[in-house]
Amino acid sequence: MSNTIKVAIDGPSGAGKSTIAKAASAALGFVYVDTGALYRTVALNASLKNADFKNSEQVIASLEGLDVSLGFVDGAQHVYLNGEDVSDKIRAPEISMGASAVSAIPAVRKFLFNLQRDIADKNNCIMDGRDIGTVVLPDAQVKIFLTASPEIRAERRCKELLEKGIQTNFEEVLADVKERDYNDSHREIAPLKATEESIIVDTSALDLEQSIEAIINAIKENMH
Ligand code: DC
Repeated sequence: MSNTIKVAIDGPSGAGKSTIAKAASAALGFVYVDTGALYRTVALNASLKNADFKNSEQVIASLEGLDVSLGFVDGAQHVYLNGEDVSDKIRAPEISMGASAVSAIPAVRKFLFNLQRDIADKNNCIMDGRDIGTVVLPDAQVKIFLTASPEIRAERRCKELLEKGIQTNFEEVLADVKERDYNDSHREIAPLKATEESIIVDTSALDLEQSIEAIINAIKENMH
């Protein structure tokens, strides 16, 4: 057991986990780990190998020889697929849905577990995902469950994609958000859920500054 400080932030997609966790990590001098990027990289690799996301045998076969690693450049996380920086490629909408599908495969979760655990054992970190407080860092000193209504999350996602030049349709994004919520919280293995000790933060009515402040305060109050 290491004596680093571990903060787990779990919640559905679009609740603002990554933006908030990134800002809170910078303020506290912690390493920020976005574990969704790891599942997205597995999905990208599967698609490059023409595997069907819903076919576990094909996805498992695509893990053969796969090297996924994380690097931190000026505090920002970069993810590498066999040495290539794929941080931008993994944000495509079809990869989001693929990540949700491949993350339900136990062998994929097992494949990524040690990488996540290792980073947390070596660095004070804020790690965000779906099963961080429940499975990856059950020993985290602080566990936060960050959520917001599906409509607010879809609205934020549309804005985020638009800023990257990707045009979207609100109803389609909302349907995607709901489908991913359902997949992520109903799968058999490591479903998205709060733990008994999780601090629940709903950001529906909070702006970014208020959300960041709420998270930093929760961490400071609970990290010892
Ligand atoms: O946080 P995100 O949208 O980048 O995550 C992409 C998908 O990966 C998401 O649909 C669920 C999955 N995921 C997971 O199962 N466990 C994690 N710790 C992080 C993400």
